[in-house]
Amino acid sequence: MIEPTKHLLKLSDWDAAQIISTLNLADQLKYEKKHGISHPILAGKTLGMIFQKSSTRTRVSFEVGMSQLGGSALFLSSRDLQIGRGEPVEDTARVLSRYLDGIMIRTFEQKEVEDLADYGSIPIINGLTDYAHPCQVMADLMTIRERKGNFKDLKLCFIGDGNNMANSLIVGCIKVGMAVSIACPAGYEPDADIMAWAKENGEFACSPDVLAMATGADVVYTDVWASMGQEGEAELRIKAFSGFQVNAAVMDVAKRGAMVLHCLPAHRGEEITAEVLEEHADEIFEEAENRLHAQKAVMVKLMK
Ligand code: CP
Ligand code: NVA
Repeated sequence: MIEPTKHLLKLSDWDAAQIISTLNLADQLKYEKKHGISHPILAGKTLGMIFQKSSTRTRVSFEVGMSQLGGSALFLSSRDLQIGRGEPVEDTARVLSRYLDGIMIRTFEQKEVEDLADYGSIPIINGLTDYAHPCQVMADLMTIRERKGNFKDLKLCFIGDGNNMANSLIVGCIKVGMAVSIACPAGYEPDADIMAWAKENGEFACSPDVLAMATGADVVYTDVWASMGQEGEAELRIKAFSGFQVNAAVMDVAKRGAMVLHCLPAHRGEEITAEVLEEHADEIFEEAENRLHAQKAVMVKLMK
């Protein structure tokens, strides 16, 4: 039986209080790091990091974060694990639970992450699936609150593919009280269950009309048109998403002083122009830095 709040499988499992208290801890850990105050809160603990997909930010920030917390992290490529040769996830979960204090996993199917939590006995952290990217959204919320002070009356507009990022942004932003609009081509909407939940629980809109969706946005967000695993659709997607770009015309209708965020990696000239990315580089790279602080907070909350 999964106890969802003992893991970070998807943000819909966490309530607003759990999200906000983790963000508060992330702010504190960031402050301590900047002021040379060490915090070996997870001394003696080990995190296993299973990767079935590539990563720069997630891998490095978890590994460095664990080291700053006094613990250690093991990089476990699925190519080298027996899981890559067909050992069932339910066996892997029960074995790794006897060695490790937590697992971060990046994979394709959300079910695999949920199964690890179901069969294992240690906290499981979703480091990205095709369905969700909750760790990224914790860093995004941290960055928004740092720059804007609070979440009150803010609107985030996501432009592009209704993918894992769109799904998790909708849930995270609505939970903390923000309005969300999504501009995507027909047929590329976020998951239907998430959109239905968003309409019930907050202010939410989704339409192919990019300028209508971006009007008045305080935060403009985008992500790649072809996610990991969709490389074969790249050409088709370049056509489908033409026009779904964060550019000067979008920034003209967004609120004055609007932030731009991107989870990275970015494809300049596709989902975002080089000009907009560079104008907002301070925000985007602070967002990348905040992966470290937000994930340290997640690990402390779950693994302490
Ligand atoms: N944003 C993000 O998750 O980056 P990586 O794929 O480099 O981990
Ligand atoms: N949607 C992207 C996010 C990368 C961080 C992907 O899944 O590849």
